[in-house]
This record gives sequence, structure tokens and C-alpha cells, in this order.
Amino acid sequence: MHFLETAVEIAREAGALVANYHQRHIPFETKGEFDLVTEADRSSEKLIVERLRSHFPAHAIVAEEGGGHESASEYRWFIDPLDGTTNFAHRFPMFCISMGLERAGELIAGVVFDPIHGELFTAERGTGAFLNNHRIHVSAVARVSDSLASTGFPNRKRHHNINIHFYYQLAMASHGVRRTGSAALDLAFVAAGRLDFFWEFGLKPWDMAAGALLVQEAGGRAADMTGAPLVVSTSDHLLADNALLHDEILSAFADIFRGTLRVPLPAI
Ligand code: IPD
Ligand code: CA
Ligand code: CA
Repeated sequence: MHFLETAVEIAREAGALVANYHQRHIPFETKGEFDLVTEADRSSEKLIVERLRSHFPAHAIVAEEGGGHESASEYRWFIDPLDGTTNFAHRFPMFCISMGLERAGELIAGVVFDPIHGELFTAERGTGAFLNNHRIHVSAVARVSDSLASTGFPNRKRHHNINIHFYYQLAMASHGVRRTGSAALDLAFVAAGRLDFFWEFGLKPWDMAAGALLVQEAGGRAADMTGAPLVVSTSDHLLADNALLHDEILSAFADIFRGTLRVPLPAI
């Protein structure tokens, strides 16, 4: 079955739709106090789910805005119809469509499409990762002190999030930690060697599925932040890296989880 080809076709169609909304300045509304959702999120999801259901009627679909399809199939799609909604709503041009497919719990195909920059990231298990059909590979950076990283903070309950401590420690230890506002693009950028690692707490399966496979197929590692295997449907946190940095980052994370600060906080 041509899962990847079909997903690419659908992601391109959804990307064109989202890009069109982007040009038209559609106003946004809020799901909760800080959580934005736009007409573009909903229309993109409707399009993707309709197309997937017509190609693969038996497959299960888990989609962020709730328009998925339950099924006992061993095939399950994880769909983020618009990853980077806050960016999109503010017209900050960094967002994408993310589609990941698992079979019996194993990720087998992933597509991340950025319609503004025309970048299509694709991966299939065992065949490598690609950007616009050119093979990509994770970076060769071997020390955190030489690395560029990225992280993210949840839209909801931001004040309960402990990530600021991880952000501070890793920002001091590296060339810098970006906050792009799109987890799926962060993962695609690790796969392409533009970032050396990425981590975040509280991601959802649709944020991680496609990007985690991209990273693995580009020669990197995707695990949770304690080093346990990543299970996109249940893991509470994620670390994706170029494999060379994996142990050093896990050791820094372990210190921070224990409350041991490598870089003391400055006196105020
Ligand atoms: C969000 C983005 C963001 C990440 C948040 C996600 P959304 O997804 O991926 O980078 O930090 O945790 O919820 O809401 O834009 O699809
Ligand atoms: Ca998302
Ligand atoms: Ca989304």
C-alpha cells in the first residue's frame, strides 16, 4: 500500500488550504485561556480525515481537534492538522501539517509539511528520511557545548511546567535553545541536522509521531527524557537528538530532575 505517497498528497492539499488562510488574515478564537484554535485547524483536519477515510476506510485516526475515527485496525494515524497554531494566529510563519502512521504500535510512515517554505519532510521505516526528496541526516555535533537545541512550552497550564529549569541549564551549556512554536518542525529540524537536539514535556501523540520517525530514520534517537523508549501514545516527555549527544543530555537531565543545578542561578 502506498501509505507515504498518499499521506504526502493529503499533506500538500491541507498545506495549501492552511497557507491560503494564512494569507487571508482569518481571526482566531481561544479553546481555553491561552489555547488558540482557528478555522484553519478545523478545516485542515476535516480535509485530512475525509481523504484518509476514503483511501483507508478501516484505519484508526487520532486527530487533535477531535474529528478522528475509532477502529480496531492495527493501522493508526496521528494527525496534527496545524502544528504551530499560536504562530499561525500571530502570522509568524512557522507551522506545519504533521501526519504519522503506526502499525501495531510501531511508527512506519511520517510526513511533516511546511507550506510557507515549501519544505516536505518524509520518512518510512527502514528507508531513511528526506527533505523535498533529498536524503537528510542528523548532525555530527558531539558535545552539548557545541550544539544548538530547541524546546517548547505547553499552551495550557504553563505555570505548572518545570521546563524553564531545563531551558536555563541547557541554554547555558549550549550555543542556545530555540523555541520555534512547532514541535513537529523541531523534530524535522533535528532530522535535517539544523538542530542537534529537541526536548519537551507534555507533547501529544500527534505532535510527535511523524517527527520521531523522521529523527530515527535520519540516524538520530527519540526516547523519553529518562532514556526509556518513546511510546508516542503514552510518553509524557520526549528527547530527540543526533545520537552522539544522547548520553550527555540524559545525564544533564538526570541532574536537573534530581534538583542538582550544573549552572547556579545568578544572584539578583
Ligand atoms: C503546539 C506546538 C508547540 C508546542 C506545544 C504544542 P499546536 O502544538 O507544537 O511547539 O510547544 O506543546 O501543543 O497546539 O500548535 O498544534
Ligand atoms: Ca501540535
Ligand atoms: Ca495543532
